[in-house]
Amino acid sequence: MAELTTELAGVKLENPTVLSAGILGNTGEILKRVGLSGAGAVTTKTIGLKPRKGNKNPTVVDMGDVFLNAMGLPNPGAENFVEEIRIAKEGGKPIISSIFGKDAGEFAEVAKILKKAEPDLFELNISCPNVGSGMSFGCDPVAAGKVVEKVKAVTDISLSVKMTPNTHLLVEVAKSVEKAGASVITAINGLGPGMVIDVETGIPVLANKVGGVSGKFVRPIATRCIYSIAQAVKIPIIGVGGIYSGEDAAQHIIAGASAVGIGTAVKDHYLDIFKKVCDELDVILERKKLKSIGELVGTVKEVLT
Ligand SMILES: Cc1cc2nc3c(=O)[nH]c(=O)nc-3n(C[C@H](O)[C@H](O)[C@H](O)COP(=O)(O)O)c2cc1C
Repeated sequence: MAELTTELAGVKLENPTVLSAGILGNTGEILKRVGLSGAGAVTTKTIGLKPRKGNKNPTVVDMGDVFLNAMGLPNPGAENFVEEIRIAKEGGKPIISSIFGKDAGEFAEVAKILKKAEPDLFELNISCPNVGSGMSFGCDPVAAGKVVEKVKAVTDISLSVKMTPNTHLLVEVAKSVEKAGASVITAINGLGPGMVIDVETGIPVLANKVGGVSGKFVRPIATRCIYSIAQAVKIPIIGVGGIYSGEDAAQHIIAGASAVGIGTAVKDHYLDIFKKVCDELDVILERKKLKSIGELVGTVKEVLT
């Protein structure tokens, strides 16, 4: 058995799999269960300052390997979530607290409240593709850096920044948040937004019309984003997008990720996905005669011509 442990800004993970934000992360009990099921770390649903209903149903379209969602960040608000994080900790795995705000100051307000529960990391969601201004910080290097600075001013807990792939300024945003003091980057959030139309009625299926695209087919886009970011920054990356197997995870890791987030695949494999990815990664490491995940991180080679 190879060594699957990894580290994100001093936070030790017993394996590199992370439950991604917004997937089963609505309550402490569920997060605890995911932790106990074998995930290396768990991320909460993105939490804002005040309780928020989110979008009207239908909020998801399941097309098998492709998934469209426009949840609209439903959440109980920061004060009501402090206790959920405390319960989640009983799962014994590091907790990544995902947060959002309408501006940099509000991000900091949310962090000030949730730090009472002492999560291991904050993840700043500056990249939601299905709320009005959700992606605006994630596409703007200066605004993204400001969010990091404001949150850093109110907490010593290390920060990760969740990147949107929907910008040509991906690398500039990554460099800016690193410079502003982020310790980790999470890449990527949903693509798009995308749209699915019911042909008989001619009506878009999502009540919100459009939503973030995730699942198997975003994996190559996520790998490319991770690769580009890893070439530009020194901080560790949680590679997210389209991971269903150890092979998918290994591609993100070779591109530069130190840990891998799993989202949509939970729908098909439920909680077995974390052990499945770890077992398959172990086989890959043995095949390549590597002793640890660390030996695989960022080992992408030049193309032979
Ligand atoms: C139903 C659903 C809800 C999501 N909610 C959030 C969220 O609250 N915050 C966030 O940062 N990302 C959210 N995401 C994005 C995922 O965390 C992940 O970045 C994205 O789905 C790509 O990974 P995947 O292909 O493994 O699903 C959500 C994704 C889905 C499918």
